[in-house]
Amino acid sequence: MADMTTTQHHVRLGSNAGQPMTRRDGVLKVTGRAPYAADLRPEGVLHAVTAVAGIARGTVTHLDTDAAMAHPGVVRVYTPANRPPLAVHPDTKIHGFAWKTEALQDDTVRYAGQPIALVVAETLEAATEGARLLNPQYRADPPRIGLDGDAPYEPEAVSIGRPPSLLVGDMNAVRARAAHHVDTVIETAAQYHNALEPHAITARWIGDRLEIDTPNQAIGLLKQSFSAYLGIDPAQIVIRSPFLGGGFGSKAILYGAQLMVVLAARDLGRPVKLALRRDHMYGPVGHRPATRQTLRLDLDDQGRIMALDHHTLAVASSFDDFIESASNASHSVYATTAMRMTHSAVRADTGTPGPMRAPGEAPGSAALEVAIDQAAHAMSMDPLAFRLLNYAETDPASGMAFSSKALRECYARAADLFGWADRPTAPRQMRQGRLLKGWGMGTAQFPCPMFQAAAHATLRADGSAVVETSAADMGQGAWTALAQIAADGLGIDVDRLEFRSGHSDLPDAGVAGGSGHTATAGTALFNAGADTVRQLADIATKDPGSPLFGAGNAGVTARGGRLYRNDDDSRSEAYEDILARAGLDLLRGEGRGAREGEPERAMFSHGGVFAEVLVDPDLGQIRVSRLVGAFAAGRIVNPHLARSQLLGGMIWGIGFALHEEAVHDPRTGRFTNNDLAGYHIPVNADVPHVEALTVHEDDEFVNALGIKGVGELGVTGTVGAIANAVWHATGIRPTRFPIHPESLI
Ligand code: MOS
Repeated sequence: MADMTTTQHHVRLGSNAGQPMTRRDGVLKVTGRAPYAADLRPEGVLHAVTAVAGIARGTVTHLDTDAAMAHPGVVRVYTPANRPPLAVHPDTKIHGFAWKTEALQDDTVRYAGQPIALVVAETLEAATEGARLLNPQYRADPPRIGLDGDAPYEPEAVSIGRPPSLLVGDMNAVRARAAHHVDTVIETAAQYHNALEPHAITARWIGDRLEIDTPNQAIGLLKQSFSAYLGIDPAQIVIRSPFLGGGFGSKAILYGAQLMVVLAARDLGRPVKLALRRDHMYGPVGHRPATRQTLRLDLDDQGRIMALDHHTLAVASSFDDFIESASNASHSVYATTAMRMTHSAVRADTGTPGPMRAPGEAPGSAALEVAIDQAAHAMSMDPLAFRLLNYAETDPASGMAFSSKALRECYARAADLFGWADRPTAPRQMRQGRLLKGWGMGTAQFPCPMFQAAAHATLRADGSAVVETSAADMGQGAWTALAQIAADGLGIDVDRLEFRSGHSDLPDAGVAGGSGHTATAGTALFNAGADTVRQLADIATKDPGSPLFGAGNAGVTARGGRLYRNDDDSRSEAYEDILARAGLDLLRGEGRGAREGEPERAMFSHGGVFAEVLVDPDLGQIRVSRLVGAFAAGRIVNPHLARSQLLGGMIWGIGFALHEEAVHDPRTGRFTNNDLAGYHIPVNADVPHVEALTVHEDDEFVNALGIKGVGELGVTGTVGAIANAVWHATGIRPTRFPIHPESLI
């Protein structure tokens, strides 16, 4: 069997992939037996609580540590005055994904909600009370908040390691020939992570060995970060992250409180646990920054896009440079002769932004799809007809062919199910009772990155197997989908497979992010299984006692725990018999997953999303009443889980369009809504009939397994579709997300 990591030959998966299996860890989770980091209560555990800054910019001048220490339950209060040393400064970026963090390095306050002390106590209540007793005093400077707080600057790079600008063609020359142009300015609000499971860590030292339980999307990188900050050998560190209650980018990177807890545990010689209070997640663990996006489309007299200009101004922190790469979302969606995508940033007194579910693409797609809808209207064209007229047959950014692109089929399937053909072109034409009804659409698109992963597979004497990789299950179903792929690599039924993951001693599975985890870790697992089968086939086909003797390694096929001769399907042998005759208890294979060499195709997942909204003409209240999406994302490993991912993305799109918004008090820079009472996300009443279909797509180029990704795709397209439906209902073009009712009356 060929090495899939280098040749990327299309391989045939077996019968496990493609099945709509329910989650293998589902029962554990719903019965409370899945251990999350904050559930752990090791013997002698101490509880930590962070005290956080109540100003956004300035200096902490006093903390009443005496009062806190006087509390009977409080064991220690850590401040910049007594924090145990670190091997490197917390402002050091350990690797490309890392950010500068806060670990009590000094008295400076860089944002509201920044940890300024760690209180460790015998109980959570005592730690909480101790933190309250600190009663911090400040010297406060006026905060810079939002997009207009400071002068913009040009970043050297945008997240995540992408170039900050793209220029294709001669914008000015093309523009001079255009017949029409459309200008759009869209603002998107700052959004904050609200994973169901708050960030948590339990740390304990056993001699020189550090054991950490913490939900994390990239255990390998996290271990590297801890090792560097602590100045200890990575071999001394074990990180367990079997389950995550959501990550969405916020659990991919080390944050300062994790370091403080580890230092406290060493200092105090006892295990220490910290679970961030929800309001303490606002700031130190990344967020999606506010953007102001300026777009201009130049069109010929038929409505073809000649030039596409997309500039993003994004909020950055005062001390680091994570720049939301929103303009990059416009690179490759529509055909155009010329394009310019640029970014600038403005420093504000906030925590450093970070990756958050479709970073760049979510806000960028929202703005692009509004601009496209505006352009269709300017041409008096149906928005779907306009998009088809401007369909990109090749990637306009790179000039490369797409690895696969079933977007036309997505549009057709979703439009048909939605009933789009009946849409009146003009706005304000439809009513339901006294409510205005509108229909809008958007294109979903998301790139298909791959990271680096490794995996082991071990076949046991009884024909069952165990596979190992440090993959992260954030709730997306990695335990299930990856196990299906692994079982196919091994040629066994998934019921005979034990899946071990979420532990740093296992082979590194790379980052569960960028919608690339299934492709990356899945490839490593498949290859590990295939490597094992190859060895097994070697043994059997060289053994005169086997019915497979003489068939040659390439002359046999694995399925259902047996090897079959390709030239005679009636001659086969079970794995356990081959192993038994060879006197082997175990057979072990290894695999890697990565994309080798420079890509020769443009690789994206696609989709078409159609939305219906009802708007109260007097109150401006917006209800999404229907949402239909069809998506093409290569091979769908598990239709059940993929649909759930797509639905989740689309529901996030509802939140982006109508709900999510962090609000700061401009005087103090503090949040006014840092909890789920004030920070709104869609609840059941906000989520109407939502349907997500997948369209068949074979992709020979994206990777050997033909797998793209579905995690972040659903949020793109949906936001614009809702905004365009709001316009179609009301005739008022939204210019800001979330769309506020008062902007419609
Ligand atoms: Mo994500 S923002 O790729 O977890």
